[in-house]
Amino acid sequence: MRIVSGIQPTGNLHLGNYLGAIRNWVRMQDEVAEKGGQSLYFLADLHAISMPFVPSELAANTREMVAALVACGIDPQRSILFNQAQVPAHAELEWLLTGTARMGWLNRMTQFKDKSGKNREGASIALFTYPVLQAADVLLYQATHVPVGEDQKQHLELARDIAQKFNNDFGNGAEIFTLPEPIIPPEAARIMSLRDGSAKMSKSDPSDMSRINLTDDVDTIMQKVRRARTDPAPLPSDPAELAERPEAANLVGIYGAVTGWTPAEVLAQFGGEGFGVFKPALGELLASHLAPINARFVELRRDRGALDAILRDGAEKARALAAPTLEAAYAALGLLRG
Ligand code: TRP
Repeated sequence: MRIVSGIQPTGNLHLGNYLGAIRNWVRMQDEVAEKGGQSLYFLADLHAISMPFVPSELAANTREMVAALVACGIDPQRSILFNQAQVPAHAELEWLLTGTARMGWLNRMTQFKDKSGKNREGASIALFTYPVLQAADVLLYQATHVPVGEDQKQHLELARDIAQKFNNDFGNGAEIFTLPEPIIPPEAARIMSLRDGSAKMSKSDPSDMSRINLTDDVDTIMQKVRRARTDPAPLPSDPAELAERPEAANLVGIYGAVTGWTPAEVLAQFGGEGFGVFKPALGELLASHLAPINARFVELRRDRGALDAILRDGAEKARALAAPTLEAAYAALGLLRG
């Protein structure tokens, strides 16, 4: 079993990032290590240039994301942690795969349609070929499993189609690439804004009170939870009654995501209680869960030398793992390499 996954480097990491992708990566790292498998996690910095961006921020966000991943439990000794830009094989294999990927396949990608919006003519070529680079990311390492969110399922199917066509057209009976399986976490918690239960918790919300940042200390966390928007009614005992109460549902969902409880289990404990009881309980839960992460994160993000060393070491290992597959792809295409 070899798992490979990437995440775009963004700054201002918050509870939504942690309970979404990052915590799942940590879990997978531990499970895969138990089974004697291997995990590779990378910062998709090459993907980040497909949309408008600021170069100095990209560099800072890449380092910040590494600090967050390690603080949350990704262990650079057990997982290979790196950024794409230090492993040229990603970009090289992408080019080779653009000979196999079809225009018609890419034209169906919903993420391109969403991100380019009304301005398709002004979108970058990188945004259009983004899924081919993503295919290269996983095929390069013979990934067997790829943990991703539901929104990335289509890109994974494309990676399988590209691998299959390449094997078929150029493999001469050999499997140059492994067909990767997606792993989509079933309970992928959707963490919403603390100010508006219908908007996702986001780094770009102008109100800092809307999110819990990985940099927030205990007092800040307690205060943000205490001031979170709610309605006046006490918590119900039946989870169905949360349907019309998005803010209450979000807080119950956050409690559940941290403890691993279902909403019904959270309400079995807190149903009938008002927010005067529930909010302090949630605040304490979050503060105690996030305090060690926060401490490691705040320390590590200041240590640029350590962060760069982690990426350098990870990239070296990734380059070694990638080399045989990249060479096999060049050879299969009849491209001479000396
Ligand atoms: N496109 C992914 C996302 O936005 C990030 C990503 C890039 C990725 N390359 C990948 C995920 C390879 C899994 C495997 O979430």
